[in-house]
Order: sequence, then C-alpha cells, then structure tokens
Amino acid sequence: MGHKKMHEKGRIKDKMDYKLVTEQVKALLDADSHYMPVMSNVSALLMEYMEDINWVGFYIMRDGRLVVGPFQGKVACIHIEIGKGVCGTAVQKKAVIRVENVHDFPGHIACDSASNSEIVLPIQRGEEVVGVLDIDSPLPGRFTPEDEDGLKKIADLLAREMSAL
Ligand code: SME
Repeated sequence: MGHKKMHEKGRIKDKMDYKLVTEQVKALLDADSHYMPVMSNVSALLMEYMEDINWVGFYIMRDGRLVVGPFQGKVACIHIEIGKGVCGTAVQKKAVIRVENVHDFPGHIACDSASNSEIVLPIQRGEEVVGVLDIDSPLPGRFTPEDEDGLKKIADLLAREMSAL
C-alpha cells in the first residue's frame, strides 16, 4: 500500500471524507430522486470511496420483508425476513447495527464468505423503515463510530429526499 494523497478519491489520508461524499449524494438526489437511480449511484459512490469493503447496497421493504435492491458486490440473498440476519434485526430494532465480527452475530446471513464485519443502517421515514443500507468488509471491526455518524447522515438524507419507495 503506497502513501495516499490528501483528498484522493474522497478521502483525507485514509479517512473517508463524509462531507464530500454527502455533497455528492445531494447532487445525485437533485438530478433524480427516484430510488432506482439514487440507490444505484449511491452504492457505486460508496464502493468507490470506502476502503476495505466488499459489498455495499440496499435492501428495500416490500410486502413485509426485505428484498435486495441496487448494490455492488457479489450476488446476494434476495429476501430477508424481519428479525433475521443483521439486516432484518436492524429493521426490527429500528437501529443501526455495527457488527465487529459477523461470525459472532447469531443468525448472520453470509452472502460473501469474505465478509468479517458489517454495518446496517435503517432508512426510516418517521416510524416506518422503508429499507436498509448494508455494507460488508473483509476486515474485522472495519466500521467505526465515525463511519456510523457519516453513513447515518446519508441514510437520513435518502429517507428525507428520495421519492418513489
Ligand atoms: N449479512 C446480511 C445479509 C446481506 S449480505 O451481507 C449482502 C445479514 O445478515 O442480514
């Protein structure tokens, strides 16, 4: 791994520049607020800018369960019931779940065997969860409280500004 330049690919020295990425999410929402283009491009944006991740994308609430939406990474499981896996647990608890080691999480659903840590953020309109943002990493304990803060702002922005979901 070579030395990283300041601001290279939306990062300030190894750290994700959440301010810059959030501005880009806002620009995407301004261009078209339908969930399909927004989620597709946000997953591409995060895959490009976040280091050490192997899967990033969305699950959408449909008919009382989660169905896979736009993502980047390996083929993922299509349906997740509420209360199942990390994603379904985040929906049930209406809370962000940060898992240091997925192998220690009871009921974790393994889509990519390379994944070791994970963060799932509900996309919530008032009391209603409309979907989740899910990110996996091959590194144990990859996601920090700072990532949680930055990603939560993005998830809340999507919940507020995204239409047709
Ligand atoms: N690990 C998730 C399933 C989705 S994949 O990671 C893409 C879970 O336990 O809910």
